[in-house]
Amino acid sequence: MTQSNPSAANGDTSSRGLWSSRLAFILAVTGSSVGLGNVWKFPYITGENGGGAFVLVYLACIAVIGIPILMAEVFLGRNGRHNPITSMRLVAERNLASPLWRVSAIVGMIAAFVILSFYSVIGGWAAAYIGHGATGDFVGGNPDTINAMFGNLLASPGELLLWHSLFMALVVLVVSRGLKKGLERSVTILMPALFVLLLVAVGYATTTGHFGEAVTFLFKPDFGKLSINGVLIALGHAFFTLSLGMAIMMAYGSYLGRDVSIGRTAVIVGVTDTLVALLAGLAIFPVVFANNLEAGAGPGLIFQTLPLAFGQMPMGSVFGTLFFVLLVFAAWTSAISLLEPVVEWVEEKTTLGRSGSAMLVGFLCWALGIVSILSLNLWSDVTPLAMFERFEGKTFFDLMDYFTANVMLPLSGMLTALFVGWCVARESLKKDVGLDGKLFGVWYGLTRYVTPVAVAVVFVYNLLS
Ligand code: PFF
Repeated sequence: MTQSNPSAANGDTSSRGLWSSRLAFILAVTGSSVGLGNVWKFPYITGENGGGAFVLVYLACIAVIGIPILMAEVFLGRNGRHNPITSMRLVAERNLASPLWRVSAIVGMIAAFVILSFYSVIGGWAAAYIGHGATGDFVGGNPDTINAMFGNLLASPGELLLWHSLFMALVVLVVSRGLKKGLERSVTILMPALFVLLLVAVGYATTTGHFGEAVTFLFKPDFGKLSINGVLIALGHAFFTLSLGMAIMMAYGSYLGRDVSIGRTAVIVGVTDTLVALLAGLAIFPVVFANNLEAGAGPGLIFQTLPLAFGQMPMGSVFGTLFFVLLVFAAWTSAISLLEPVVEWVEEKTTLGRSGSAMLVGFLCWALGIVSILSLNLWSDVTPLAMFERFEGKTFFDLMDYFTANVMLPLSGMLTALFVGWCVARESLKKDVGLDGKLFGVWYGLTRYVTPVAVAVVFVYNLLS
């Protein structure tokens, strides 16, 4: 990921390497943020939470909370120049604040670890679908056959384990070697390609005769359909999709040169990420409505809809296969970023070295992933928190997803915002964040007041409801 370029030239006295260019940084951050969250998770939670109103709240969360926190995290990383926990401690020391603020990074890294365990399982689903696409299994499919294909995959712990193991091995491989070359290259070529294929899928979706219905569903808010829990899910997803609250952007920011504007970069990444999610929604929902499928079908939604679309369009096998290849790559660049901060930390704290640390953390994560795999079949009836109405029917897998995205990430993000907004000297922020007068004021206000208050209000309402 890094190269030993002359950091002093950037007015930077640290001995750490830096990203080779601003573009390299933007690509890595985009690679982290664009992933299964956009293509797999956004559509299904939108379906479960009634559409338009949920999308609107989500967009607001990205703009008002997500992008400002992205900037705060990158700032902390660049200012601290170490692994996220150490960086936060150093920045706290410099600003005479309590070193306890680093709890934010610790919560984030635990969340990253848990998320990676199930993220790899879903990445495995996408990998399994490459094979289905290539062998022509989508062609002429109807909702029943496509549903059965997905059902068979989930019902088979052995097959899931195989794909999960492969996916995790691929992630560990890259992280143990250091990321730079592989990551930069794959993001430069594959991300635009994924974008194009999503456009192809949207193009097909316009021919289903139900495109208008999908646009209405996605963009016409009906607040009657949105629960307070839905608001929390939208907030949590804003964090998940931008890879926030997990110390990742701090880790990436720690290699960033002084000359890069944090503000501009954050906006570019936020907008790109959002566009990909909306395109995925526009590709999927017309197919849902055209085939009388259930918008709230849950985590299997894209695996039950897009194969139908690919099965019906000309050259569908080619497009379908390519699509899942690219989805696996998008998931892979995100998964790499999930592993990176934890590995960086283990590497600094132990004598295991880079690859030893990557293997150890990867192995533990892989083992935890088995819990998610079993939740899909043998343990699908095990619902540990069923005594609470909200968690009825939620398996271990559902609960890990819920608590990481909707509790740990916003909590960690809120602490980061409080720390940056209230403990770090304003002058140092002003110098570093790279926003001009008025814009800086807006960002500072959002970070100081709006983010912490918004997260707190959503939390409290949820607890009371
Ligand atoms: N942002 C990624 C996505 O939307 O798929 C997922 C992700 C990556 C989540 C890294 C968390 C993370 F730390």
